[in-house]
Amino acid sequence: MQRRHFLTRMWQAGGVLIAGAAAWTSLDFLRPGEPTGFGGKVRALPPEAVPETGIVEVPAARGYLVRINGEVRALSQKCTHLGCRVPFCESSGQFECPCHGTNFNRAGEYRAGPAPRGMDQFPTEIGDDGLIYIDTGSTIEGPAPGGESIDEPPTGPSCTEETHG
Ligand code: FES
Repeated sequence: MQRRHFLTRMWQAGGVLIAGAAAWTSLDFLRPGEPTGFGGKVRALPPEAVPETGIVEVPAARGYLVRINGEVRALSQKCTHLGCRVPFCESSGQFECPCHGTNFNRAGEYRAGPAPRGMDQFPTEIGDDGLIYIDTGSTIEGPAPGGESIDEPPTGPSCTEETHG
């Protein structure tokens, strides 16, 4: 009899622990403004750490931070053609998709290839801690081809021209 009573108590205690863990996890997801992984707000850098030239990769956001005409933009790495990851080519100074050869300038604007538009962007905000937060839960559609806001032609050899001419 005592053993049954003990086991019942243990089951009840286990249930309480599981319910507590579930509630804690749910609260963690719902807490506003807290950094999360991809799909939520990703904490990045202070704005002044984003250089005037080049790019900063933010792996947790699956994206890049760039400064274009003084303004910081967060670009999605996902190609607007068929979704391949688009790396930045240091030698050309352009984003070059290795899958089918679409090129984007450093601002993420379309230059050439089969993609229908420029690179998509994520909204950003400055948190109370002074850091950039990238909202990877929503996407701003990349600009239509035609017109570049920066005058940065390729600075050197392409990283993909051997496979895509
Ligand atoms: S997926 Fe990038 S060019 Fe096709």
